[in-house]
Amino acid sequence: MNVEKGFVDAQVDKNLDLKKEIERLKKEKDAVVLAHYYQKGEIQDVADFIGDSLALAQIARKLPNRMIVLCGVHFMGETAKILCPDKKVIVPDVNAGCSLADSCPADEFEKFIRERPGSTVVSYVNTSAAVKALTDVVVTSSNARQIVEQLPADAKIIFGPDRNLGNYINSVTGRNMELWNGACHVHEQFSLEKIIDLKKAHPEARLLVHPECRKSVVMLADKVGSTAALLQYAVESDATEFIVATESGILHEMMKRCPDKTFIPAPPDDSTCACNDCSFMKLNTLEKLYNSLRYEQPEITVDARVAEAAIKPIERMLSMS
Ligand code: 13P
Ligand code: SF4
Repeated sequence: MNVEKGFVDAQVDKNLDLKKEIERLKKEKDAVVLAHYYQKGEIQDVADFIGDSLALAQIARKLPNRMIVLCGVHFMGETAKILCPDKKVIVPDVNAGCSLADSCPADEFEKFIRERPGSTVVSYVNTSAAVKALTDVVVTSSNARQIVEQLPADAKIIFGPDRNLGNYINSVTGRNMELWNGACHVHEQFSLEKIIDLKKAHPEARLLVHPECRKSVVMLADKVGSTAALLQYAVESDATEFIVATESGILHEMMKRCPDKTFIPAPPDDSTCACNDCSFMKLNTLEKLYNSLRYEQPEITVDARVAEAAIKPIERMLSMS
């Protein structure tokens, strides 16, 4: 067995009932599987908890178990490890990065902060632990508005790395946060023109939009929110048709929770690509999850000094949410 490729590279017996084996290993290893809504449906189905990035952090912190297998992307594993330093935290494929987190290297962000002295630094959870260590308060798409509204009205604020979420929060709070120029490759690619056409073809459909999307798409939305907020809206709404402008994995839980409603993925600019899929999120598979439980690898580690600095803005977020 080796993990040089970023996941356990071991053969899985084709005759195994993987779902049953995963259940057995979870008990044997005192492990809990947490999955983000963007994971493949087969992973969401075996998870003990599914949620958005805020919920996963909140749940991780309260778990009594020895091991957490975080089916999501690397920064989510890091956040869980920072919150639970005594637990073993595993991500089935640690190549699961995030283009948004990558758009904000810690050294460049540090320079950006130094050039704006006296600013309060608000960072989206989609960042490396090193960026969180430079931050005053972390936010997710669930609580960004609520947290920014709690900062003093005259505070000079730096927000990174997502310019679309930052613009959205500026527009709903009336703040003038200075934005880092980063974005997510999945959410930036939805086509405004094609969404308008789709709305014409489905006039009763409600448009659900993640705030990482471009402003022009956000402005058309019936509901703007985190994955959990969009799901809740779909469950509670009287409408029966929804156009969904976020990563396609959320459709799995939407269809499960609302079997009589119709969910239409918002079309990407380039109709030949699978751009609604986050290629990082989809690196985790049932086989890799099984192997990661079996061999307890690949483990997430965070440098102790970075973790010590990064936990403060994460704890601050949790206490302000
Ligand atoms: P949520 O905060 O809605 O879970 O979103 C996380 C994410 O990666 C969005 O692309
Ligand atoms: Fe990162 Fe975008 Fe994937 Fe979310 S969907 S994990 S922001 S690359």
